[in-house]
This record gives sequence, C-alpha cells and structure tokens, in this order.
Amino acid sequence: MSAPYIAPSILAADFAVLGEEICASAQADWIHVDIMDGHFVPNLSFGPGVTGVVDKLTDLELDVHLMIEEPERWVETYIDAGADTVIFHVEATDDHVALARRIRELGAKAGFSLKPATPIEPYLEHLEHYDEVLVMSVEPGFGGQSFMPDQLEKVRALREAIDARGLDTIIEIDGGINAKTIAEAAAAGADAFVAGSAVYGTGDPARAIDELRSLAS
Ligand code: DX5
Ligand code: ZN
Repeated sequence: MSAPYIAPSILAADFAVLGEEICASAQADWIHVDIMDGHFVPNLSFGPGVTGVVDKLTDLELDVHLMIEEPERWVETYIDAGADTVIFHVEATDDHVALARRIRELGAKAGFSLKPATPIEPYLEHLEHYDEVLVMSVEPGFGGQSFMPDQLEKVRALREAIDARGLDTIIEIDGGINAKTIAEAAAAGADAFVAGSAVYGTGDPARAIDELRSLAS
C-alpha cells in the first residue's frame, strides 16, 4: 500500500445500512471512525461499541479519530475494539509523547491531530513518535463543512520536516475534502485523505473513492 490513502469517514454513512455502506467502501485504504464526546467537541457520535461493529464489518484498517477529553482513559478500549491507528488531539492531553508511546506499546499506530487554531510548530520536533499526523481542515465536530485552505500551511511544514528527517510519518487531512479540494491538499504534501460527505453523500461510495484517488494521484 502506498499514498494516496483514501479514508472514508463513516460519520456521513447511513447508519440504517452501515454494513452496506462499508461493503461499498471496500476499495478504500482505511475506514475513518470519528469519536465525539459532546465535551471536547460540541457533537456526540458513537463509541467503542460501534467501533467494534465496524471492525467486524470490514477487513480494512480502522483509523480512529478521538475528539474526546481525557484520551488517556480510552485508548486501550478503542484498541481492544479494533482501532489500528489511534489519533488523539494534542489540545486534550498534557503529555502527548507519553500517550503516543503508550498507544504503540499497546500494539497500535499512534497519531495526533490539531484544531485549526493550534499551531503545528511545537510538534515538529516530536514526529518520530508518530505514525500519522491528522491536520484538521475544518473545526472538528461536524461533517459537511467547507475546507479551510489556510490549513495547508501545516501540511507543507509537516512535509518539509518529515522529508528533512527521513521519517515515514503519514500526513492525513480531514474536513471538506472532495473532488474540488483533494488535488490542492495532495499538492501541499498530504498522503492520506478523509472524506465523509464526498463519499457517502453521493449515493455511490465506490465510484466516489475511485474518483478521489485519481484526483489525489
Ligand atoms: C469532523 C470529522 C471529519 C468529518 C469529515 O470533525 O473529523 O472526519 O467526518 O466530514 P466531511 O468530509 O464531510 O467534511
Ligand atoms: Zn475525523
């Protein structure tokens, strides 16, 4: 497997037919699972129970995005539920490196994410602790928002730091990714692309994934 990685976000899927939606996403690389606790972000999505169901419905890796307070308390639960990559928010923890180490010790890949207002610079020197960095290109909490092009500065800074140090940390971008925005994000240096409404809002997830992949290539 190599970039571009396409990660449909099931937040935008029809939960009445979640199994069918996930089956129709089989040519994706990962399934992106958005966990919202109603505190760290103003919205509530689903938890470890649904994550476990998704894991049973697919052979794809689960890219679990924790938009929750106190992620330290929950990482093990999500790894047990089937998370292959666990992404927490740096705004939600006091010791992000310790948490990344713990995720890796528990056998998962570690990722961090940051809200649009959070600068990337303080984190660039710690990239060796991370398999993935998730740049938010919308304010986390809701699907279907407009892409914030100014966040591509973070993607460029990450690309430069990762390449300069010879790391293989994956840069993923999340929020407002669609056929109009994905090429710009890829050109800035993103390797992986989360898309919710642009995949499940189209009525043809398989075709949407293929189209996004070719536009990002
Ligand atoms: C937002 C979530 C995103 C969201 C993306 O807080 O992290 O993953 O589902 O949805 P779209 O692609 O519709 O912007
Ligand atoms: Zn997400």
